[in-house]
Amino acid sequence: MERIFGRPIVTQEEMRARIRELGRQITADYAGKDLILVGVLKGAYAFYADLARAIRIPMRVDFIIVTSYNSKTRTSGKVKIVADLTEDIRGRDVLLVEDIVDSGLTVQYLVKTLAKRKPRSIKVCTLLSKPERRKVDAQVDYVGFKIPNKYVVGYGLDYQQKYRNLPYLAVLDTVEEPV
Ligand code: IMP
Ligand code: MG
Repeated sequence: MERIFGRPIVTQEEMRARIRELGRQITADYAGKDLILVGVLKGAYAFYADLARAIRIPMRVDFIIVTSYNSKTRTSGKVKIVADLTEDIRGRDVLLVEDIVDSGLTVQYLVKTLAKRKPRSIKVCTLLSKPERRKVDAQVDYVGFKIPNKYVVGYGLDYQQKYRNLPYLAVLDTVEEPV
């Protein structure tokens, strides 16, 4: 990191504590189930790694790569699967792990698409949610933090593919949000 920048919105300590809580909750909710934890890349990679290690039951791991935003911050409104799962989810309990639910389009598309493969259940866990920006009524079962309508980077989230490796979440004040 060339220098510390941006206003921290969630610190590393707050993140650690909240993820521990989410892990405990998911561990209790999925006891005795056939959990497959599906990370939505790239954004969820940091959250996924920490959340997975906070879940204390046997489970499968898998990933799906989607694009929903172009290289800037503007949404195209379209979601595309760039790389699909490698595991069969039929009859299993899928928990999608997202970095952030913004318009809700990505989650809506993924839940609809993966439900066709007949999992036993499908739920969504997101680190962040911007409720004010919702365009569609997306399913969200576990939320780490609700945040205001600001563009954030770090801890997996990018601005033009950079800043994902910031160890905390920061607000980029210079970025205009699309309407
Ligand atoms: P949605 O489909 O509009 O809900 O948003 C999906 C994707 O937009 C997320 O998975 C992020 O990759 C990206 N996104 C939305 N808000 C932010 C932000 O504040 N910072 C970085 N990426 C964001
Ligand atoms: Mg992104």
